[in-house]
Amino acid sequence: MWKDHLLTAKQLSRGDVETVLDRAGEIAADPEAVRGRLDGRLLGLLFFEPSTRTKMSFETAAKRLGGGVVDMGSVESSSVKKGESLADTVRVIEGYADALVLRHPSQGAATMASEFVDVPIINAGDGAGHHPTQTLLDLYTIRETAGLDGLSIGIMGDLKYGRTVHSLAHALTNFDVHQHFVSPESLRLPRSVRYDLHQAGANVREHEDLSAVLPTLDVLYVTRIQRERFPDENEYHAIAGEYRIDADVLADAPEDLAIMHPLPRVDEIAPEVDETAHARYFEQAHNGVPVRMALLDLMLP
Ligand code: CP
Repeated sequence: MWKDHLLTAKQLSRGDVETVLDRAGEIAADPEAVRGRLDGRLLGLLFFEPSTRTKMSFETAAKRLGGGVVDMGSVESSSVKKGESLADTVRVIEGYADALVLRHPSQGAATMASEFVDVPIINAGDGAGHHPTQTLLDLYTIRETAGLDGLSIGIMGDLKYGRTVHSLAHALTNFDVHQHFVSPESLRLPRSVRYDLHQAGANVREHEDLSAVLPTLDVLYVTRIQRERFPDENEYHAIAGEYRIDADVLADAPEDLAIMHPLPRVDEIAPEVDETAHARYFEQAHNGVPVRMALLDLMLP
């Protein structure tokens, strides 16, 4: 049952996704209707890696629902620094909060943590694994922009380490879409994700060159090269900057192409793109609030 814990996008059926997106739409249309919904409830924020959007939008969502947050703060300022294990940390903080939002550098950390607590755990990113709540706001944005079925969606950049990509690719198997993955050979989707997509019967193609597919796309989801996950910094420098969207690239794009990005960007999208009708990434980030309000509303009885 995904409402016990939200750990990976693999848990989510089409019906689950539609339930969250529909609820988010209702909340966005009438936020007053859920005022006080989480009165007296607290969300525990455990971020072992940096975050702006995920952490602040969960905090905003909890507060807009009338709840509050307890924040572990940085690793440096917490007892993690003294060597406390993740299992002990979550067992302690479940006594302070009604649900836990966990970001951690280790793949599988949220799943492991969920075995030690009774309150819901929401995976806010586990290393190069998954980021399911990002996927829900991505799908919300795609649906608002272009609908969901019948689309051709390009996903470009660091497909190997990008957890938002892994979650989005899995979730899109619930819909009638063509997925085009664009990356250098060294940053292809992990074999395990390709296997899962194949098993799900997904309509998938891989490309090294964006120009081969750009004119056919409805959505282009651009991702940052995850510098912090490269074992060798030289490998990062060999690739950084190769897959960049600017006005020249967009000359060949369909007029109604939506460009998305989970953010933060470094230089994958030139600032000049921000002023075009293609840019959807700031709206996408803002959609994190109604989508996370919907999640908390559905997960906390
Ligand atoms: N998209 C996303 O996860 O952003 P943050 O790292 O700022 O939370």
